[in-house]
Amino acid sequence: MSPFSGRTTKESTNSKGSNSKQFKLVVEESTLEPKFPIGQYDYIDGRNFYRTEIKNNYLLPCDDEEVERLEVNHLLAKLLFGKLYFSPIEEQLKQGIRVLEVGTGPGWWLQDMAKDFPASHFTGTDIMFFPNNPPTNCHYRIADVSKGLPFADNTFDFVVQRDAMYRFSRTHWDFVLNELIRVAKPGAYLELVESSGTINDIGPNSSVWLMRLTVSLQTRNIHPKIAPQISQMVIDTGRVTDVVGSHRSIPIGWLGKLGDVALESMERLFDSMKPRLCEDWSMSSAKYDKVTQSASKEFRDFKSWSNFHYVSFRKMTDQERSETATPSSTTTLTPDDTDVESKDLRLKADSLKFTPKLLNNPHSCPLDMASNLP
Ligand SMILES: C[S@@+](CC[C@H](N)C(=O)[O-])C[C@H]1O[C@@H](n2cnc3c(N)ncnc32)[C@H](O)[C@@H]1O
Repeated sequence: MSPFSGRTTKESTNSKGSNSKQFKLVVEESTLEPKFPIGQYDYIDGRNFYRTEIKNNYLLPCDDEEVERLEVNHLLAKLLFGKLYFSPIEEQLKQGIRVLEVGTGPGWWLQDMAKDFPASHFTGTDIMFFPNNPPTNCHYRIADVSKGLPFADNTFDFVVQRDAMYRFSRTHWDFVLNELIRVAKPGAYLELVESSGTINDIGPNSSVWLMRLTVSLQTRNIHPKIAPQISQMVIDTGRVTDVVGSHRSIPIGWLGKLGDVALESMERLFDSMKPRLCEDWSMSSAKYDKVTQSASKEFRDFKSWSNFHYVSFRKMTDQERSETATPSSTTTLTPDDTDVESKDLRLKADSLKFTPKLLNNPHSCPLDMASNLP
C-alpha cells in the first residue's frame, strides 16, 4: 500500500531511475491551499504583521525580511548540528514516507528535506503563509495548531516542529504536543528543535533588551524558556518512548563563522521584533536602534552565548502502550548536560585556550561550543 494513501483524489507518478520502483503519489485534494498569504494584516513601522485573534499577540512579522531572517536561522541550525534531523529514519525517508512540519513559516527546513528525499511527501502547516516556491513533493495547509491540526489520527510517519518558542502559553504547549503525537502513526518519530530563550554572559544593554522581551512575552502568556523542559513534557504525555534530548551551544558574534551567523540571526531578530516591542515599551525607533546596536557590540565583547535544544522521540505502538505499566519506565531521557560533559568541556576548552563560564550550571554551555570551532 502506498504510504500516501488516504482520501485519494489526485494521483501522479514519480519515476526514480532504473533501480527504483515506480512511485505512486496520492495527494489529498483538501490539503492544496493558496500559496500566498490570506487573511488580515497590519502594516507597522515598515513591517507586515498577521492580525491575530488576540490583538498584537504575536511578536514576529510575516514579510520578505522575516523570510530572510528565518533562512539565516535555518543556516545557523544546519551549521550548528550538521544535519537536518536527529531520528534514525534515513532509510524510511529514502523509501518514501509522509512528513509533517507544524509552524513551517516559509518552509526552509521542509524544502531542504523535500529536495533531499524526493520519494517522501512533505506537508507544512502554519497560521499564515509566506510567498514561496515549494518543490512538487511539498505542500502547505493553513492551520492553527493551538486549535487542533486538520489531520486524522495516525497520519504521518515523521512529525516535526521547530522554533515555536514565541508562540504558545504553557497550556497551549501541552495541547500542541498531544496534537503532534495524535497525528503521528504509532511507532513514528517526532522531533522538536528550540532555542533556549536565554542568552548567557551578556552586557547591560543586551540584558535590558532580554528582560523587557521576557516581560512582553509574559504579558502575552508566552514562556520563551520552554526548550529545556520539552523532553520532560513529552515524557509526561505517557504516549512516547525513546526520548533523546540534548543541546548545543552557540557563540554570538565570536568564535568564527558560527558566531558570525548567530550574530546576524540576533540582529535580524532585533529588527523583526522592533515594531511590536517599541509599541509595548513606548520606545522610539531611534532609542530601540541605539539599545540593540549596543547589545550587538556587547555580544562580541562579553562573549555571549546561547543554546539550541532538540528532542527526538517515538510514539508508542499499541503493543508498547499496553505493555507499559508506567510511562517513565520505558523512556530514556538523555540529560542535557552532566558533570561528565562539563569535565570533557574543561579539557577541550583548556586545549583551546578558551575559558567557558558557568561550568557547574547544569544548563550551561559549551561542550559543543568548543567543538564548533572552525
Ligand atoms: C519563528 S517562525 C519558525 C518557522 C519555521 N519553523 C522555521 O524554523 O523557520 C514561527 C512560525 O510559527 C507560526 N505560528 C505561530 N503561531 C502558530 C499557530 N498557532 N499554529 C501554527 N503555526 C503558528 C508563525 O506563523 C511562524 O511562521
